[in-house]
Amino acid sequence: MAEVTKQIDAPALTRQYTYGTWRHQKGWMPREIVDAEGCYFRDGSGNRYLDFSSQLMCSNLGHGNKAVIEAICEQARKLPYAAPGFATQVRARLSSALLEVLPHGLEKFFFATSGTEANEAAFKIARQCTGKYKIISRYTSYHGSTAGSIAATGDPRRYPIEPAGKMDGIIFGPDAYCYRCPFGLKYPDCGIECADYMEYMIQHESNVAAVIVEPVVGTNGVIVPPDQYLPRLREITERHDVLLIADEVMSGWGRIGEWFAVDRWKVKPDILTTAKGITGAYVPLSVTATTRKVAEYFEEHYFAHGHTYEAHPLTLAAGVAAIEEFKRLRLIERTRELGHYLGRQLRSLQEKHVSVGDVRGTGLFWALELVRDRESKQPFNTREDKIQGKPLVVDRVAGECMKNGTYVVSWITNLIIAPPLIIEREEIDQGVNALDKALGLADQEPR
Ligand SMILES: Cc1ncc(COP(=O)(O)O)c(C=O)c1O
Repeated sequence: MAEVTKQIDAPALTRQYTYGTWRHQKGWMPREIVDAEGCYFRDGSGNRYLDFSSQLMCSNLGHGNKAVIEAICEQARKLPYAAPGFATQVRARLSSALLEVLPHGLEKFFFATSGTEANEAAFKIARQCTGKYKIISRYTSYHGSTAGSIAATGDPRRYPIEPAGKMDGIIFGPDAYCYRCPFGLKYPDCGIECADYMEYMIQHESNVAAVIVEPVVGTNGVIVPPDQYLPRLREITERHDVLLIADEVMSGWGRIGEWFAVDRWKVKPDILTTAKGITGAYVPLSVTATTRKVAEYFEEHYFAHGHTYEAHPLTLAAGVAAIEEFKRLRLIERTRELGHYLGRQLRSLQEKHVSVGDVRGTGLFWALELVRDRESKQPFNTREDKIQGKPLVVDRVAGECMKNGTYVVSWITNLIIAPPLIIEREEIDQGVNALDKALGLADQEPR
């Protein structure tokens, strides 16, 4: 007789024995997810939710993709693990597949298991091969959770661990955030001061190894730079022999209707880091992709980096299958088409809801930035509110969406809308309707 698996109280045990991350532990009672299919997942009480944020902006292929699951199982049967010093068929196959989709010229890879690790590797590589040590990041950014990557993170996840979280040589430059321009300027009259100021920083700091940017800023509000920004930054970094690192952990893998966000502006970074969507999040994989020029340095120098689970065959097999699925399902083209529709629907929410200060995005990657007052752009909450664990208006709106059957990620002042790239129009309508109902809560806040 088949053994009946005893159901345990997953939320209570998860809460008691594991950490809830990026939060105060008090008050955390995680919802149990039991299964997921397409753009939906189901909780332990049988409620079904539209996944309007692809979990953590990573389930780009949707849930239950059979080709990716089968590829993982097949690899597990054949060769689940090999020490990184060995060559494997799957490592060679993923490398070839990456050469086809990455910006031309990025042709040597380091495989690990998270975006954080991809950026840590990028910093080490940049510092070693340039012989310089400063990294310029930006204030409105997230680059990962460990020593170097959290030090290079501009958002408040860095605050609680300071001063230890500071790292010598990491400095911050201005954001390309037109809605809240750090120079108080207006595009296009601004002359893209946010890019030019980076040149001023590079010149006056000296010793700058690299500039790291999210080409489209993710969690911190889907900030799409003006068209001239990235090409200008590329010119500046090249002129000063500084490497450009594109952190495409979130913005890559079709999310904006291109394989990678830098493709939109035909910018070729020296290093591109990515993770999340590369396997559709079925298993954890990240890549640090470098140019041949960067790679050549290590022919005669020690490559001082590595992990036990680097180039793990299960992850690589999922990567190969996921790339085939992106192509078979034409997800890049589809995202471009559907993105226009999603953008239109979200913009219509701004007309109806006074609390929506800005709607921005591209492809299937959008944010609603909520404000107490549209004129002054005063936010409902601050970065400090988040770290102090104060109740946030965006979290209440996201909670209300959940009651309406739609899951949306909220972060300080933004709601992040980034559905699986397989989403259908009717599902977009369903998600936008849920937001429409929930935004009433923010509209009612005192102005
Ligand atoms: C732009 C960006 N970089 C790096 C990371 C870190 O990736 P991971 O959480 O896989 O370590 C994230 C995660 O959200 C991210 O969005």
